[in-house]
Amino acid sequence: MLEAEKFWNDRFDTSDFIFGTQPNKFLQQRSELYLTQPSHILCVADGEGRNSVWLAKQGHRVDAFDVSTVALTKAKKFALDAQVQVDFVHADCDSYFWSQNKYDAVAAIFIQFADPELRSRIFQNALISLKRGGLLIVQGYTPKQLSYKTGGPCELSYLYTEELMQDLLKEAHIIELESYEEELQEGKRHSGMSALLGLVARKK
Ligand SMILES: C[S@@+](CC[C@H](N)C(=O)[O-])C[C@H]1O[C@@H](n2cnc3c(N)ncnc32)[C@H](O)[C@@H]1O
Repeated sequence: MLEAEKFWNDRFDTSDFIFGTQPNKFLQQRSELYLTQPSHILCVADGEGRNSVWLAKQGHRVDAFDVSTVALTKAKKFALDAQVQVDFVHADCDSYFWSQNKYDAVAAIFIQFADPELRSRIFQNALISLKRGGLLIVQGYTPKQLSYKTGGPCELSYLYTEELMQDLLKEAHIIELESYEEELQEGKRHSGMSALLGLVARKK
């Protein structure tokens, strides 16, 4: 078992949903705004499935993967209870099979387990897996989050800045890129005033 899998399995091994059951608000709002047709969406590292299940409920076709088997078991039950279908796959970001030109959208919500090298590979693969014109929707924490301590990683290099996103997504067309502060109530792990970054980019 991968070290990451064990770490996240331990964290998810509780009856409650540690990031809540509601979708991330940025993803919800931007998908409602931009994905006006039923779309094929990939949710990267979607944990207990709050984002993928909500997207499937909106009529989208959704694939999702995560390194944690414990989270995936919860996600599958969550989808079953919601009477929607999500194609959940157990994989880490490097072993996941990233199909080319497949998706209308890729959602990368709070995937800040990635060090700079892994992060570059994930964003590169996310772009590869999008169809031309497809959307990448990202939510993460900015360095200011280190003073809020209401969720997210403690390592500065794992956090997002607008400059970092512009650099990672040089080959895409950035539609929205903003840093802002907002109160999050996403389960016990994302709770309180938070320093956030939201991004929407289109594959050229
Ligand atoms: C902060 S949680 C966010 C979960 C979900 N995106 C959400 O917004 O609720 C990070 C997720 O990344 C997963 N993860 C950690 N390392 C991973 C890796 N190397 N590859 C794939 N998933 C990973 C964890 O199991 C966890 O579900």
